[in-house]
Amino acid sequence: MAEVIIVPDARDAGELVAEAIADLVAGRPDAVLGLATGSTPLPVYEALRARRSATDLSRMRGFALDEYVGLAPDHPESYRSVISREVVSPLGLDPDRVHVPDGSLSGIEHAGADYEAAIGAAGGVDLQLLGIGTDGHIGFNEPGSSFASLTRVKTLTEQTRRDNARFFDSIDEVPRHCITQGLGTILRARHLVLLAFGAGKAAAVAAAVEGPVTASLPGSAIQLHPHVTVVVDEPAAGRL
Ligand code: GLP
Repeated sequence: MAEVIIVPDARDAGELVAEAIADLVAGRPDAVLGLATGSTPLPVYEALRARRSATDLSRMRGFALDEYVGLAPDHPESYRSVISREVVSPLGLDPDRVHVPDGSLSGIEHAGADYEAAIGAAGGVDLQLLGIGTDGHIGFNEPGSSFASLTRVKTLTEQTRRDNARFFDSIDEVPRHCITQGLGTILRARHLVLLAFGAGKAAAVAAAVEGPVTASLPGSAIQLHPHVTVVVDEPAAGRL
């Protein structure tokens, strides 16, 4: 059963999780952090930035969960750009130690296997940050994803494209495909930390934490993991 921590707001969640990451890095400066994109993990990155003078993250390694397929790497909404702008630069991470799946069309057929090999060579992920989509997706593992899946190309659902359209000029610009760590990849991380804020996530959180373990709700895969911490605000906890 996941440990569920209900905090007053996203800022408190960010501080709590930043402290766990700082403790991890204090014990092992080159610890491997699993990075998530979307708005949910931003308070964690913000709290880590505020601790920069006390916590040296320059040797920490990172692996992002996912990437759009077919966006130029320097497109401002490619996850490579987002991770660089919101995580690597503000936190003082070494860009050479931070990896994002390669969503460029050339070589896409081996990008998933390459990414799995890189995670394996790093010794696996110590702490994996996770948000959750309104349809229960984690990473970009949409409903129906196998619990054994590894990093691969997936088609985005219309719901996810609509949810993410706010980052683009119009929904037509949201890519239709992505490359994402699989649920099997995510389950190999040693500690999963799932965050969610706001009433819009309440149903997905309740289903992930307490509902049946089913491929229809990819977040429910966390129930198969022995070390999970769920950090939510009151509205996101509203249906637990
Ligand atoms: C995006 C990302 C996920 C993220 C989720 C929720 O599509 N691929 O990793 O967890 O959707 O996004 P947000 O945190 O902005 O609500």
